Amino acid sequence: MKAIRIIRDEHRSIAAVLHGMLYLVREIGESGRKPDFNVLGAMIYYIDAVPERFHHPKEDKYLFALLRARYPAARPLLDRLAEEHRIGAEKIRTLEQALARYQQGGASEFPAFKAAVDAYAEFHWQHMRREEDEVMPLAEEHLTAGDWEAIDAAFAGHTDPLLGSEAGVEYDRLFSRIVNLAPPPIGLGPPR
Ligand SMILES: [Fe+2]
Ligand SMILES: [Fe+2]
Repeated sequence: MKAIRIIRDEHRSIAAVLHGMLYLVREIGESGRKPDFNVLGAMIYYIDAVPERFHHPKEDKYLFALLRARYPAARPLLDRLAEEHRIGAEKIRTLEQALARYQQGGASEFPAFKAAVDAYAEFHWQHMRREEDEVMPLAEEHLTAGDWEAIDAAFAGHTDPLLGSEAGVEYDRLFSRIVNLAPPPIGLGPPR
């Protein structure tokens, strides 16, 4: 069940970016520090590209689809999570818009941006927690060895080039870029 490990790893990277973003925003709010729009922009781009375009589609197409077929009692839970994937895509647009307004409009737009960051992070944490605490145990119980082969192949990047290992390498690079841009203690970028 390579996929379970890959999903958890992808969740950890997403959580790291969400934590980093919350940290920077809190710092701006508390110390009045100047925002670094390069870092904030890279973080929001990552959240749009990785969970929304890379991670969730693999869950929907493989893990959720097979669990839905094998264990119909999980359908309400899977419906809810698939709906959250849809809502997440809308929320990321709100976040991008809030960042653009903050960048153009200045400090008066900061509270709305902060609220959008807080809301997105909270939403996404709850979502990942539900997947790890509720979906994974059901998947481990009800999916067959053949199901896991298909799911593992998809998550390891052998099934769909758009969701495959090359895309994964590109997203790892994006993650490294964020780490290199972000100031300590969340990254390795220049201290401010
Ligand atoms: Fe998900
Ligand atoms: Fe997930």
